[in-house]
Amino acid sequence: MFKLKWLLIGITLFYLSCETGKKEVSSPPGTPNDENLMTTPVKDIHSYARPEQAIMKHLVWDAKVDFDSNRIQAKASIQILRDPTAEAIVLDTKNLHIERVTLGETSESETSFQLGRTDAILGSPLTISLQKESEWVNIYYYTDSLAEALQWLEPQQTDSKTAPFLFTQSQAILARSWIPLQDSPGIRFTYEARVEVPPGLMALMSAENPQKLDPQGIYSFKMEQPIPAYLMALAVGELQFQQLGGRSGVYAEPGLLPAVAYEFAELESMITAAEELYGNYGWGRYDILVLPASFPFGGMENPRLTFATPTILAGDRSLTSLVAHELAHSWSGNLVTNATWEDFWLNEGFTVYFEYRIMEALYGRDYSEMLALLSLQDLKQEVEEMIQKDQAQDTHLKLDLKGRNPDDGVTAIAYDKGYYFLRWLEGRVGREIWDSFIKEYFEKHAFRSMTTEQFLDYMLRNLIERNHINIYPDDIYLWVYSEGLPESLIAPQSARFSEVEQSLSNWLTEGQLSNTDNWSTHEWLHFLKNLPADIDTVSLAQLDQKFNFTSSRNAELQSAWYLQAIKSQYQPAYAPLEEFLIRVGRRKFLVPLYKALVASTDGKEMAMEIYEQARPNYHYVAVRSVDEIVEWTDEDRTR
Ligand code: BES
Ligand code: ZN
Repeated sequence: MFKLKWLLIGITLFYLSCETGKKEVSSPPGTPNDENLMTTPVKDIHSYARPEQAIMKHLVWDAKVDFDSNRIQAKASIQILRDPTAEAIVLDTKNLHIERVTLGETSESETSFQLGRTDAILGSPLTISLQKESEWVNIYYYTDSLAEALQWLEPQQTDSKTAPFLFTQSQAILARSWIPLQDSPGIRFTYEARVEVPPGLMALMSAENPQKLDPQGIYSFKMEQPIPAYLMALAVGELQFQQLGGRSGVYAEPGLLPAVAYEFAELESMITAAEELYGNYGWGRYDILVLPASFPFGGMENPRLTFATPTILAGDRSLTSLVAHELAHSWSGNLVTNATWEDFWLNEGFTVYFEYRIMEALYGRDYSEMLALLSLQDLKQEVEEMIQKDQAQDTHLKLDLKGRNPDDGVTAIAYDKGYYFLRWLEGRVGREIWDSFIKEYFEKHAFRSMTTEQFLDYMLRNLIERNHINIYPDDIYLWVYSEGLPESLIAPQSARFSEVEQSLSNWLTEGQLSNTDNWSTHEWLHFLKNLPADIDTVSLAQLDQKFNFTSSRNAELQSAWYLQAIKSQYQPAYAPLEEFLIRVGRRKFLVPLYKALVASTDGKEMAMEIYEQARPNYHYVAVRSVDEIVEWTDEDRTR
């Protein structure tokens, strides 16, 4: 009886919050009535939350960031939506030190709580006893030095080398290591925060942000649209803001700001191109924060404030597709969110697709087709490797992550197989029908989560059946629930890459490398990635002399070049390689380079030596991956 009533209240409130979100962002009103089921979060194996009893809907976070102890001391006040009979709310935590828990908004009273058994991946459930009418729970706590989302940097690890720096990386399930919350992508909440930092530093969050330094170091934040926990983000450092367009700008350390503003000058036109494709940008401002080089990803789509690696500052704007990617997540991921990490391809596959469409709109089809081809080569290699390592199951788009870290699902499958699946669908239905389908899909499911099955079902009805498209559902399921790459995958054609292949083959047979004058970063990448694996060092030296790859400042070219250098044992590249591995913490570069080192003659020892110096500069998620590659053990641990 009570349960049913609670469900109805829940659904109503949920719709209300979706509707307010929509009004504010002026996207057309959706028609959410036919998909009622989507409002009940599906079971998420990576969260202890029990949403059927109580869901968080708003967070007030009051925090002090202390660089002496490398700790955040905070109070998290959580407003909940609950079944009136529920006796407790369960939150996710990992390594948090809980001091006390109270109930109530204005007047607080202590309540009992229990931290459950710690799981190495999931952390510990925090079960808080509720009273009959409780609507607010307050958790007083501080973070541990093992907080996996946080990276505390010494001044030497920053660009300016004058101030410390802190940033978070919450995706996939690390938000729980700095805030007690329901850490499931199917649960959304709004938030506000007050953050105190040492004077002279600026704090930024995935929210409405300051643009100026506060002399007291006290900052306030507001995120008025409901977001899942993995999009909670904080950065603190010596930062400055520069406006780019009317609703866009960049934050970076002062010394980097001019280069950053130059590199991302086309940001506003990217936003416009994205809106023309799939509807209004729903989040107000879109800013980019460029982090220190240890940031473990290329980019992270924290709402209103993308976090980005400085390794995309090539000086010639050639690596900005990454910005298009993070921007695209403002629709795919942040608006329509994978319901669980087993549906991760829904976030990333759609985003890669959208990324290439933005790049196509701005720079033409031959540009975006180069991006698509580069990713296909990586995808094929990764699929082959996974099948060889008996991980064929993980080549399914829909993943099985039972008992596993969701980070294991971060492979080229979600990104590039996901992309090629959507590209194949586009090819079958035609671009016009496809684009209006996608646009409507985002509108109808804004601020909701989506499972693979819900998407397939929706797509079969609203794309295939509605438009009388002649596709067998089995051909679709083959992409999602089978191994490897379907034969229906169509490889892009790129005249520019064909020319590269021609030049490469001429060089290999005749020793003459020509027609390279107008090559962009992408053509060079294609060239380097297709060098014969056993190419000799004399040929590499010849290339190096002419094109200076060893001293390149373009991180994509550097990593492709160093990879070949390791395979061919080309010594002149080793010192810069070492410098690169120590300075840069971006996992996408680290993993192949360490793997290649370990596989090369005498390379294992070298990998270990470099890693010993580099490891203290890496974020937890990079450490986790590289530890496995070099077989780092606890005895090697230096920090
Ligand atoms: N959201 C991802 C990063 C991520 C995924 C972090 C899963 C943690 C768990 C982000 O949007 C991303 O895909 N970044 C890529 C960018 C690239 C594909 C353009 C990266 O970091 O390389
Ligand atoms: Zn992404």
